[in-house]
Amino acid sequence: MSQLKTLEAYQKAYQKSIENPEEFWDEIAHQFLWKEKWTKTLEWNFAEPNIKWFINGKFNITENAIDRHLLTSANKTAFIWESNFVDKPNRIITYQNLHDEVCKVANTLKSFGVKKGDRVCIYMPMIPETIFAMLACARIGAVHSVVFAGFSASALAGRIQDSDCKVVLTTDGAYRGVKDIPIKAVVDEALQTCPFVEKVLIYKHTNTAITLTNRDVIWQNVVTNASQLCTPELMNSEDVLFILYTSGSTGKPKGVVHTCGGYMIYTCYSFQNVFQMNLDTDSKDLFWCTADVGWITGHSYIAYGPLLAGVSSVIFEGVPSFPDAGRFWNVIDKYKVTHFYTAPTAIRALEACGLEFVTPYKLNSLKVLGSVGEPINEEAWHWYHKNIGKENCPIVDTWWQTETGGILISALAGVTPTKPSFATLPLPGIQPLLVDEKGDEILGNNVEGNLCIKFPWPSIIRTTYGDHARCKQAYFETYPGLYFTGDGCRRDENGFYRITGRVDDVMNISGHRIGTAEVESAINSHTDVVESAVVGYPHDIKGQGIYAYVIAPSTTKNHDNLRKEILAEVTKIIGAIAKPDKIQIVSGLPKTRSGKIMRRILRKIAEGEITNLGDTSTLLDPAVVEEIVKGRI
Ligand code: WT7
Repeated sequence: MSQLKTLEAYQKAYQKSIENPEEFWDEIAHQFLWKEKWTKTLEWNFAEPNIKWFINGKFNITENAIDRHLLTSANKTAFIWESNFVDKPNRIITYQNLHDEVCKVANTLKSFGVKKGDRVCIYMPMIPETIFAMLACARIGAVHSVVFAGFSASALAGRIQDSDCKVVLTTDGAYRGVKDIPIKAVVDEALQTCPFVEKVLIYKHTNTAITLTNRDVIWQNVVTNASQLCTPELMNSEDVLFILYTSGSTGKPKGVVHTCGGYMIYTCYSFQNVFQMNLDTDSKDLFWCTADVGWITGHSYIAYGPLLAGVSSVIFEGVPSFPDAGRFWNVIDKYKVTHFYTAPTAIRALEACGLEFVTPYKLNSLKVLGSVGEPINEEAWHWYHKNIGKENCPIVDTWWQTETGGILISALAGVTPTKPSFATLPLPGIQPLLVDEKGDEILGNNVEGNLCIKFPWPSIIRTTYGDHARCKQAYFETYPGLYFTGDGCRRDENGFYRITGRVDDVMNISGHRIGTAEVESAINSHTDVVESAVVGYPHDIKGQGIYAYVIAPSTTKNHDNLRKEILAEVTKIIGAIAKPDKIQIVSGLPKTRSGKIMRRILRKIAEGEITNLGDTSTLLDPAVVEEIVKGRI
């Protein structure tokens, strides 16, 4: 396998990947199981964009992620599932079990009439069945669209409609800490506006009461008896593997499209090299990524990456704080987790609970720690390094995005150097550059600019579902000829990259990506709201919090009530993750003469930087700013 083991090996691979990218990826791709080899490695232009990797190659990703391991490792653990509840028995799923369960779900989907290319929505909690469902889709060539089970009925409906899903997979309920959330009821509500959905398959998990309609089928009644054999559908490299919705700076969430070949190669390669697990079949290494499978991190580093690499990993249903703030550390000791991958927001939240939740645990199985989702501040980095890693574990700060499919900038654990709060160096095949506002490249070190990538890597976004123009506009038009990430970035004296945060109107709340426009549109749907503007501001635990400025009519007297209703409205339209932390009722918003809201000013006020608001002379009504400053929360 293609693991780089020394700094020199990394440098050599990097050099080769830049000089001859096609040959570089060709060699790696040859290590996978193909039914027919590709006839051309790469075809691309960023103008349309049109990006194709491993053209005419034919294979199925599940044969690579599952069947390929059966010869040597049928009884190896693919997943250990840890329930929300400490005392509930765990489940061990071997590669053989995984094969059988995936085939059973695949055959069930086939019996529903699901065919290659059909879209299937998965709205499920963190249980093994969710992974079975994703892989079952991939097995038969259906396109999965996983929607995080914390999204509201209306957000779910929007996603089901956008990709015209034929079938929805869900559970009766979901446990999250002390909560028992009736998620089938959310699906029922969503489907009121999705009459085209033909079947709903429900896995009974919590035994929460549900109402059944004609299109509902109980998983345990059909999947259990389905055949454990299912011939994998022959897929073309560029056939769609999945759609995953993510927020942008404007409009509703867009469906990021990933295709089979490139995604397989890159998630596996990045997984093997960043985390540096021992890949021997009898290795005792155990991976644990705490993300939810509803986000790209869960897709690439719970489902596909680890399985393609043939390792064992943990799936955790619960939350870090239940039954107490020691849960993560308890699970690490219980299973002897060696490679642990989590988000800065979780680290900060657990740090705030105190060391008394850490010290009861040994944590001596750990070898590598990972961070993902947002910039990790130095304080949290050191706490993680000292108290969890016992100063013995390299921390890989992995920068990437839903659109990139896999990790693009990160240290390779124990192989390349780390530096607190720096993602450090690009992986082989990744050509980052910094540009200024005009799009000119900023050369040299010790510089800062907007982060772009100048050459395609195998798992780059191919399109946004149903709207190719939007993909072009969002990522390839700002700086023609480049993929624009939306992130600001600094390159230090050694050429190490440090991501400074989004430079567009996208917020990062506890590692969740939320567009300001989406939250504003949800707030504006309240009948008493005239207009609103939303910005992110620094938040000790969440990284960023949401600050909403809301104009209400002067007739609305009870502002506390309005605030409560706004929170309910946002929860209803998007989900609890998008609830503003602060809502300030104002009589006007700072606008330019052409009517554009000056967010720069609102951001500064939310950050508490009120002494230097910059140039306000272009404002239509400067008095508004004074009023907002006075009333800030
Ligand atoms: C945005 C992408 C990629 C998995 C989870 C988030 C921010 C992500 C880092 C990091 C600094 C990071 C960026 C990026 N981000 N990882 N290690 N350091 N920032 O995926 O929801 O698509 O969000 O998350 O701003 O653009 P996503």
